[in-house]
Amino acid sequence: MARILLGVSGGIAAYKALELVRLATAAGHALRVIQTPASRRFVGAASFAALSGAPVLSDEFERDPARGAFPGDAAPGHDPLSHLELVRNTDIFLVAPASANTLAKLAAGLADNLLTTCALAATCPLLVAPAMNDKMWAHPATQANVVLLRSRGVTVLEPATGRLASRGEEGAGRLPEPGALLEAIEALTRPPVPAPAADLVGLRVLVTAGGTREPIDAVRFVGNRSSGRMGFALAAEAAELGAAVTVVAANVGLPRDPRVTYVDVETAAQLRDACCAAFESTDVLLMAAAVADFRPARSFAGKLKKGADERMRIELERTPDILSGLAAARRADQTLVGFAAEHGAGALQYGREKLARKRLDAVVVNDVSRTDIGFDAADNEVTILTAAGTTQIARASKPQIARAVLDVVVALRAAAAAGAPEPAA
Ligand code: CTP
Repeated sequence: MARILLGVSGGIAAYKALELVRLATAAGHALRVIQTPASRRFVGAASFAALSGAPVLSDEFERDPARGAFPGDAAPGHDPLSHLELVRNTDIFLVAPASANTLAKLAAGLADNLLTTCALAATCPLLVAPAMNDKMWAHPATQANVVLLRSRGVTVLEPATGRLASRGEEGAGRLPEPGALLEAIEALTRPPVPAPAADLVGLRVLVTAGGTREPIDAVRFVGNRSSGRMGFALAAEAAELGAAVTVVAANVGLPRDPRVTYVDVETAAQLRDACCAAFESTDVLLMAAAVADFRPARSFAGKLKKGADERMRIELERTPDILSGLAAARRADQTLVGFAAEHGAGALQYGREKLARKRLDAVVVNDVSRTDIGFDAADNEVTILTAAGTTQIARASKPQIARAVLDVVVALRAAAAAGAPEPAA
């Protein structure tokens, strides 16, 4: 809930300010309205008073019956100066519509009515929504006033383009719709998002994502259904926690995160080369890619023709286990996390076996027998295995799962740094 001081200046668009008051009060905000004398020729104070549930002021010498209080707040015991008390209590001062004249007065710092006096006295954010004829808006004097106000930190909204009040005229100068004005108010009054816990600051995180494609010929491949969502979510969360993140992306068509460095690969061999090149300088490896365990022993340069045969045989050969290879060369200060896509019963037992065999710090197990989670789905449900324990993560979005995995990584590294056995999960 915000306390909004709405200053209405003279213009045909003043009627839209009524709708804004209705919308904003319905959204739970408290409003007080002040009007310039000219605006009263367009919309009367009684309408604003009825919709805001508070007296409307227009003259700086007028006593405020509410003594500067907003609806829902207690009025002070004394009788304060109305304009000073109103602006002191408000979270945001919106001038809508702001006529060319009021805009010029705000830029010049004039204080010749209650609205402009309040603008000078206000220390809260000032939001100005101009509305006027398109030629007045385009005039260099108006444009210079806008530039000056913005240079002082005032938010001046761009007027909308469309039909204007004068018959047959179109152009830029319309007051933005009340819903857009309310959005602008809420954007400026929203409490700041607390800074994220930056638990991975200074660490280099290498993530593999997606699924490898092993060529059969120039146009066909052996692949898998991994979309790369889990790997990309891990990368985004690691970046959020302050890490320098590189993703080796195997055939991932998802949007890229500007904070992350990407190395695009297609095959398991390319993924291995990219990982080997980055591994030495990696602190945390999150091996989420679905790497082909087998690839065609031979790949044809051109496109295979089907010929007359009813059957075709493609011989497959093992790919090197990249994660095991990296783990064999690992340093003790590196944290290695593997992912195990297991099918049905025995998943956790296979996962534990992988944890030991691949010399990993954690294995994230998910059950790929389920169609509602995992491959190409928005959600996942995993179990994180470490030497000391088992953490069951109930069904959640992939970003939430990624955060849970990184929480385990942070705990593992904290325990390792303290020389203690990692905490049981
Ligand atoms: N992995 C890898 N190189 C491969 C295959 C898999 O680095 N050639 C990695 C995966 O990225 C994953 C982990 O190893 O992090 C587990 O993959 P998975 O194929 O489930 O492991 P396997 O030990 O091959 O188990 P399974 O016998 O079930 O195939």
